[in-house]
Amino acid sequence: MTAVGIDAIEIWTGNLKLDLPGTFAPQKGEDPEKYTKGLGLNASSFPDSYEDIVTMGANAAHRLMERKGLEPDDIGRIDVATESAFDNSKPVSTYVAGCLEQVYDGDFHHANKGERKFACIAGTQSLDDAYNWIRAGRNRGRGALVIATDTALYARGDAGEATQGAGAVAMYISEDPDLVELSTEQGYGSADETDFLKPNQQFPSVDGKRSVQVYLARMREALEDYESVAGDTHPDQFAYIPFHTPFPGMVRKAGLLVYRHMIRDTPIEKELADEIGRQPRAEAFDDEEAFHDALREYTDALKETETYQEWYGETIDPTLTLSREVGNWYTGSVHVARVSALKHALENDLDLAGSQLLVGSYGSGAQAEGHAETIQDGWKEEIEALNLEEQLEARYDLSWDDYEEIHDVHNHDMDVDVEEFTTPDSEFVFDGWGRMGERKYRYVE
Ligand code: CAA
Repeated sequence: MTAVGIDAIEIWTGNLKLDLPGTFAPQKGEDPEKYTKGLGLNASSFPDSYEDIVTMGANAAHRLMERKGLEPDDIGRIDVATESAFDNSKPVSTYVAGCLEQVYDGDFHHANKGERKFACIAGTQSLDDAYNWIRAGRNRGRGALVIATDTALYARGDAGEATQGAGAVAMYISEDPDLVELSTEQGYGSADETDFLKPNQQFPSVDGKRSVQVYLARMREALEDYESVAGDTHPDQFAYIPFHTPFPGMVRKAGLLVYRHMIRDTPIEKELADEIGRQPRAEAFDDEEAFHDALREYTDALKETETYQEWYGETIDPTLTLSREVGNWYTGSVHVARVSALKHALENDLDLAGSQLLVGSYGSGAQAEGHAETIQDGWKEEIEALNLEEQLEARYDLSWDDYEEIHDVHNHDMDVDVEEFTTPDSEFVFDGWGRMGERKYRYVE
């Protein structure tokens, strides 16, 4: 069977940044270490006044097409995943196509376009759609452009304000991909939950503490479902495990839960037993609360073992490097984690071709998905071609007053005009409103 997967990825960050320990924490009267150590974040990316989900998505896609030498005729689908859409009818993908048509001779008139919504998991669902479309043989030799783009803003004063972010990830899905092949096997953990939602409002209603618990519960369910089709997983099976990363502290919890699950009934559990005992089994307890207390105690001890910390340092921590600098990109976040891991491998000269990733996506509301990816021979070239450091370095560092202004600029209920903080260069920009309330864009050389 021909491999189908991600041929190339490009990332586009919002052009502004907010320093969390340096600028945000002092204003909140909080210890900067809550951000750097607790949440695991140094900075958030923000869009400048001329940026939005369309410009960031189109800019990521444009870079990707240029780098891979793709023309509109090579693309048979454009799917945009977002939870920051501004129109209940016209999909963001039509705007993105319109932008790209300004700079290419060809057009996307024969490409199927859509928009995917299921909170942060929609980007991964769009990968599924592309995979299925190619497997079904409906692609006519073409690939799919999947764009995950979000401006993840919370209401001022919400606890989530610390975890904001903005950026886009563009991916080209094709046969014989250069980066990763997607597994056919996948697992789901899905339930009707009220943890984070935006009932026709821009900023989320969020029960932060509950959302953390729902994330973990659904992720565990997805892993068990994945194992039911792919067989038991083992900690040494995967080079990296990129998770949806609303903030790195969340993934610290997910990594520990997954490790505990994976080592059950393995020699690793046995070897650790001298140090911390065996994992408590539900059957051994009459009372559910006592079982949960024992499990919590075991998990706390597991976290402190050298065996776990070494595994975490190799398998999970490298997935978080980019997220620490950009915050939550919602639909793009798990795809940023994948790139972060592969960049780590490149920088450490690891030979990854043929190795596997386990990818754990999550969307509030709520659903988790797990699947494996096999790293392809072309991965190094793909990752080497990214200019992430350059982009992150070039961001304008917002003062507190700037931050308050730019939050208002992107608040749909406010009509605020500010000078741009940065100067657009070779990118699409927002260019005002049309007569039917549509947004207009132009390319700035
Ligand atoms: N030094 C070191 N660590 C510190 C610290 C300090 N001075 N002060 C606090 N911390 C630690 C805390 O112990 C905590 O870590 P643990 O959970 O491991 O104990 C961490 O920093 C965060 O501190 P708080 O829990 O006190 O932070 P908070 O109450 O202000 O809010 C939050 C945390 C609820 C996650 C909030 O940021 C939030 O609501 N975020 C938005 C929702 C979210 O991201 N949920 C994640 C799951 S849902 C999802 O994944 C979908 C999505 O993208 C939104």
